[in-house]
Amino acid sequence: MSGSQQVGDVFAPSLEFATVANAGPELQAAADADRLAFWDTQARRLDWASPWSEVLDWSDAPVAKWFVGGELNVAYNCVDRHVLAGNGDRVAIHFEGEPGDTRSLTYHDLLAEVSKAANTFTDLGLVAGDRVAIYMPMIPEAIIAMLACARLGLTHSVVFGGFSSHALRSRIDDAQAKLLVTVDGQWRRGAPAPLKAAADEAVSGAESVEHVLVVKRTGIDVEWTEGRDLWWHETVEKASDQHTPVPFDAEHPLFILYTSGTTGKPKGIIHTSGGYLTQASYTHHNVFDHKPGTDVYWCTADIGWVTGHTYIVYGPLSNGVTQVVYEGTPNSPNEHRHFEIIEKYGVSIYYTAPTLIRTFMKWGRAIPDAHDLSSIRLLGSVGEPINPEAWRWYREVIGANSAPIVDTWWQTETGAIMISPLPGVTATKPGSAMAPLPGISAKIVDDEAHELGHGGNGYLVLDQPWPAMLRGIWGDMDRYRETYWSRYAEQGWYFAGDGAKYDEDGALWVLGRVDDVMNVSGHRISTSEVESALVSHPAVAEAAVVGAADDTTGQGIVAFVILRENVENTGDQLVKDLRDHVAVEISPIAKPRQISVVPELPKTRSGKIMRRLLRDVAEGRELGDTSTLVDPSVFEPIRVHRSQG
Ligand code: WT7
Repeated sequence: MSGSQQVGDVFAPSLEFATVANAGPELQAAADADRLAFWDTQARRLDWASPWSEVLDWSDAPVAKWFVGGELNVAYNCVDRHVLAGNGDRVAIHFEGEPGDTRSLTYHDLLAEVSKAANTFTDLGLVAGDRVAIYMPMIPEAIIAMLACARLGLTHSVVFGGFSSHALRSRIDDAQAKLLVTVDGQWRRGAPAPLKAAADEAVSGAESVEHVLVVKRTGIDVEWTEGRDLWWHETVEKASDQHTPVPFDAEHPLFILYTSGTTGKPKGIIHTSGGYLTQASYTHHNVFDHKPGTDVYWCTADIGWVTGHTYIVYGPLSNGVTQVVYEGTPNSPNEHRHFEIIEKYGVSIYYTAPTLIRTFMKWGRAIPDAHDLSSIRLLGSVGEPINPEAWRWYREVIGANSAPIVDTWWQTETGAIMISPLPGVTATKPGSAMAPLPGISAKIVDDEAHELGHGGNGYLVLDQPWPAMLRGIWGDMDRYRETYWSRYAEQGWYFAGDGAKYDEDGALWVLGRVDDVMNVSGHRISTSEVESALVSHPAVAEAAVVGAADDTTGQGIVAFVILRENVENTGDQLVKDLRDHVAVEISPIAKPRQISVVPELPKTRSGKIMRRLLRDVAEGRELGDTSTLVDPSVFEPIRVHRSQG
């Protein structure tokens, strides 16, 4: 198939693709004519048990109600209705285990498994509105557990399996989860790594947790607490596979997902049912041009992040997808793994992060070139700005110079894609997310809320509510208003925390975070969270953390620490201890790339750490304006220490 046509640096959709694309120019026209009527139409992609009386109720802004009074069951929409439509034999999930074991689940199988899990959860006494924590690797049971929650109106809180027991515990406590679903261990680079041990540590003394349900994934030994712990294979697998779903209100909370903000405490982002599923389904259908029954889709994210929630579970399954779910890392047992999987299953839509694309580039094109990737017809990118070189390489080497690329901007808070080209419709530019989707409205503004013309760098704001928007922060609605809605309170705009610009052709470029949030390999980590972790170590008196540009990971974490009095600087050993400590407090993904022990930190007269200057140091630049510093000479030792570190 011939793909997009390149003129200069603009890739226009080919006629061939445009002719059969799901999206067409009529989408934008319909949204422009009547935005709420447009969303009303999109909501009809789903099966509702009762209709809504109003598309949007914004009277309690910034807490939206979408599809007011409508009722639906999210799991029914993702599973049952495909079986009822005669597609029960279609494969929903091609599971590829890290050690090489495989399993395919049809929609019929998925319905049976989700029903069994739902019956078990009910037997455990869980009722709609209760919270369930899920701490698992990428195995089908994780998706089954999420869907069983959705089916029963239980609100799930998935915690990334790479997070530490401390991080899990604080999330369990915050949501007061009654059930924790986990595994004995997970496969990592060919070896089993314990996970239940961390789960045990997390729930010890956690009063809300009544049961821990454990999937046997690796067969490693585990500690067992009688009465509390249950094996999945002794409960779920023995339960009845018959279960009748009941509908829930469109605004019933579907899940909580914790994400880093500018303070040390992660925020529990709340998403509800009807609006969320509507936008998840609409975007998955149009942005990925997904054709049910033909395409093989693969989103390489982990269900511990929002990308996994919306583009592995809810969006794709609501659309009857056939998808690959892969448990492991891209280089296990070697760098060919992803390309072997694409070849093996005939993956046609591949959605990944720029950091992985840059890693592939580093490994060299001989690796993908050794495989038949001709099944690929569309490529997606998410998580951070994609640099134009990576975009071009992605298109040329993985996409055979023809597959359209969709660079999708969104956030945990937005719930679903907001800014992206539409394949077959939008001409794309390498590195640009192009434009808000039909139905979505965004502006780029300055501090005074003036809209910026082409070329001006400003803040990205969302000036109209959207169906998949967050409904708040769990247990802290003040923080919700403060974080997102106070900056442009007068205008009533959502402040996204990203810088952006329109170029001379009107293409939108997302430039990265403008707050103290770092983006490391597409993972969102707050500087203050890492600082809190560092100062909780007995050796550290004070810490300052910055994100420094990194060729592969986008940003790398660089820390400057002041030691407590009488603590000896043991050099490499101390740095190792501190990095390990951060891994224990948060996760290995939050380990600083570099830690420098310094005698002092640069501060303003009001005592604020000058992170901007530290970033200059970390990135090896000449120092910017130091005139507001109390004592500019603090930089001499910092630079010396840095060059030694
Ligand atoms: C932040 C949100 C969206 C799911 C994964 C991350 C950055 C995300 C893009 C993109 C430029 C992007 C932003 C955003 N980001 N996608 N296509 N281009 N930047 O979700 O952890 O909530 O992080 O990721 O900075 O604010 P998240």
